[in-house]
Amino acid sequence: MNIAVRYYTRSGNTKKLADAVASAIAVEAKEVASPLTEKADILFLGCSYYAFDADAEVKRFITENKDNIGKIVCFGTSAMMRSMKKPIKKVADAVGVAVADEEFHCRGEFAKFHKGRPNEADIAEISEFAKNIVNK
Ligand SMILES: Cc1cc2nc3c(=O)[nH]c(=O)nc-3n(C[C@H](O)[C@H](O)[C@H](O)COP(=O)(O)O)c2cc1C
Repeated sequence: MNIAVRYYTRSGNTKKLADAVASAIAVEAKEVASPLTEKADILFLGCSYYAFDADAEVKRFITENKDNIGKIVCFGTSAMMRSMKKPIKKVADAVGVAVADEEFHCRGEFAKFHKGRPNEADIAEISEFAKNIVNK
C-alpha cells in the first residue's frame, strides 16, 4: 500500500502534526506545493481554517492530483472549528476523490489562544491515529 503525507501550514501548527504522522508511519511529509508523483492509496492531508475555509492551495492540490489519490485522510488544527472534512469533502466530491470518515483534528495556537498547541499529547494522539489507519 502506498501512503503519502501532504500539508499546508502558515504558522507551523499543522506541520507539527504532519511531521508526527510522517515519523509514526515512516513516510516523508511534504507541503502541498509538492505534487504526487505516484498513486497514493492513502493520502494524509493536513490543513487548517483561515476565515472559515481551507486555503486555496489545498483545494488546488486535490484537484490537480486527483488521479493519484486513492483516499484522503484529513488531519488539521484550528482555533475554533472541529473538523476539516466539510471544505475538503466539497472539493474532493466534485472531482470524485474519496474522503475517509476517520479524521484527526486538534487545537492550534492562534494569537493568545491555545498556547503550545499542538502539544505533546496531541502529537502522541495523532501518531496513534496514523498507525491505526495504516494497520487497519
Ligand atoms: C488569518 C487567519 C484566519 C483564521 N481563521 C480561523 C477560522 O475561521 N476558524 C478557526 O477555527 N481558526 C482560524 N484561525 C486559526 C488557525 O486555523 C490556527 O491557528 C491553525 O492552527 C493554524 O495552522 P497553521 O499554523 O498550520 O497554519 C485563523 C488563523 C489565521 C492566521
